[in-house]
Amino acid sequence: VARYDAHAQWYESVSGPERNELSHRLDIALAELVGTGPGWCLDVGCGTGVHAPTLRRAGWRVLGLDISMGQLRFARERLPVALADAARLPLPAGAVDAVVATHIHTDVESFDAVVAEAARVLRTGGRFAYMGVHPCFVGPFAERASNGTTVLHSGYGNDELVFSGPGIGDGIRSKVGVRHRTLQAVLGAVLNAGLELTGVRESQPPGRPLPDLLGVSAVSRAS
Ligand SMILES: C[S@@+](CC[C@H](N)C(=O)[O-])C[C@H]1O[C@@H](n2cnc3c(N)ncnc32)[C@H](O)[C@@H]1O
Repeated sequence: VARYDAHAQWYESVSGPERNELSHRLDIALAELVGTGPGWCLDVGCGTGVHAPTLRRAGWRVLGLDISMGQLRFARERLPVALADAARLPLPAGAVDAVVATHIHTDVESFDAVVAEAARVLRTGGRFAYMGVHPCFVGPFAERASNGTTVLHSGYGNDELVFSGPGIGDGIRSKVGVRHRTLQAVLGAVLNAGLELTGVRESQPPGRPLPDLLGVSAVSRAS
């Protein structure tokens, strides 16, 4: 279900490294995690395609895929795109050199299925990089206070789509919903897909006590 269709204009107005501190940190870390091209790099669940310019500067030819036509209308100004479900990519096995994804583990029905699909379309030696909100400190159960502390409530590991909770407020997540996935679920998806984990990255806002982003990198090895 393309839940972002109705919110794409808003998403375009707030997201992206030049508009948003978190997105700026993510953009830099994502490029470090995936490394440099040349080659084809898929951005799965690309949204409005805000990370394409940085990936291109790193030498990749980037193709964006998303399930929301609304998001892709903005993304296509930044990169070539296709409407596709991340869990069923319209590509043959071993077709691409890299796959990246950002901020989708809290949206997709099965993160395991998405990473398995990424692994299927990667060539041997191809690279995978993922970054999203930190599973331990950001989510419906994690109430962020203005002084920078976070109060953790019950709900860690509840991966149902929810629209309210102490960590949600009245922003976009109250409209499109959010699933929480644990640290084990995020790292496990990479390992379950048969990818070899090569890096883990945490990132935190300046002056704040806790990381709000988690990133991983992995490589596809011959089976
Ligand atoms: C929070 S946005 C992240 C967008 C972008 N990656 C970014 O970092 O700005 C989540 C995106 O995942 C997309 N999405 C959700 N489920 C999907 C699926 N099964 N296949 C492809 N895209 C999906 C949504 O349409 C939305 O654009």
